[in-house]
Amino acid sequence: MTKTVYVAGVAALCLLGIGLHAIDAHAAGGDWKRGRVYYQKVCTDCHTAKAGGAIAPNARTMADWTAYLNADKHAKGKDSLRNYASREYRASVKGTNKAAEKYADVPDEQLFNDIRSFMLKGAKDGDSPASCN
Ligand code: HEC
Repeated sequence: MTKTVYVAGVAALCLLGIGLHAIDAHAAGGDWKRGRVYYQKVCTDCHTAKAGGAIAPNARTMADWTAYLNADKHAKGKDSLRNYASREYRASVKGTNKAAEKYADVPDEQLFNDIRSFMLKGAKDGDSPASCN
């Protein structure tokens, strides 16, 4: 019960933050809203389970994220970040992950750009710093 209330509270804060910045929604090119859903429901899901906790977009600057995304290294260089935005990965988890199921057919490059938009927008110095990953 307490957890549900807490989660609802965090979601409300996120919505408020996003609402205030709705005007520059398309500044970074991709569909940051779709990127946000994917980040929160797919990336964060695994980070909570296996990376010791959620990774907030506002933990790094836009320049840091740009370098990170371009390098395409993930989990301390062990694998490729693009892998986790791929249709193949989405297909492998869609049975248990609604966001992966919802976006199952979005082209890889497009979804990666959406995630990029969200991460840049949510960066420490982005339009709408997102601690609510
Ligand atoms: C199947 C699990 C899993 C998924 C899905 C996943 N990650 Fe990760 N991620 C990890 C793990 C595990 C680490 C921590 C590695 C460590 O610290 O040794 C990590 C670390 C990171 C880091 C910290 C820097 C680094 O690479 O070590 C970032 C940023 C990150 N992930 C972004 C993402 C994004 C963006 C997505 C979604 C497109 C994503 N991850 C999807 C497991 C996952």
